[in-house]
Amino acid sequence: MAIRKIIQPDNPTLRRKARRVISFDRDFQQLVDDMIDTLDEAQGVGLAAPQIEVSQRVIIVRLPDDEESRKEYGKDAGVLYVVANPEIIKASKEMVEGVEACLSIPGYYGTVDRHESVVVTGQDRKGKPIRVKAKGWLARVFQHEIDHLDGRLYIDIAKEIWEARPEDAQPEEQPAKESASGSS
Ligand code: NI
Repeated sequence: MAIRKIIQPDNPTLRRKARRVISFDRDFQQLVDDMIDTLDEAQGVGLAAPQIEVSQRVIIVRLPDDEESRKEYGKDAGVLYVVANPEIIKASKEMVEGVEACLSIPGYYGTVDRHESVVVTGQDRKGKPIRVKAKGWLARVFQHEIDHLDGRLYIDIAKEIWEARPEDAQPEEQPAKESASGSS
């Protein structure tokens, strides 16, 4: 296990369409473990492989597991989702505005419209088919991470972007509280 370096938009890997995962071998297991370590270290809620310069279609998502988060997100709090080759097969018509940040773009926030709920299919880390129904903040994080696999960043679609002031520093890739609760 190891913490990997998170790249920024000056690195072209972040803008590339990532390749499908076809082998769930030891190297892939190592990649997933490293992504989990890297996300923990960064205290984020989601990470896509291209962010650590690996052009493969795999994402991990995990909302915080504190008491407040459990109240707000119930069973979604603290659950680790590892999804290879994720596809959004269903998305609500309803769109919600919320605040996003990205570990690859430290120090900025933006407001982004996302589907209020989505159904994501893909494969787990062993290659078994999985299906995740996500609402609210969890749905937002899935949409943000899946965008990374196609080289898309939230700043491409944000309605407004601003620089974080040092005094309100927050963990990255974690929208502000009010938007999170407003979208669930
Ligand atoms: Ni991101």
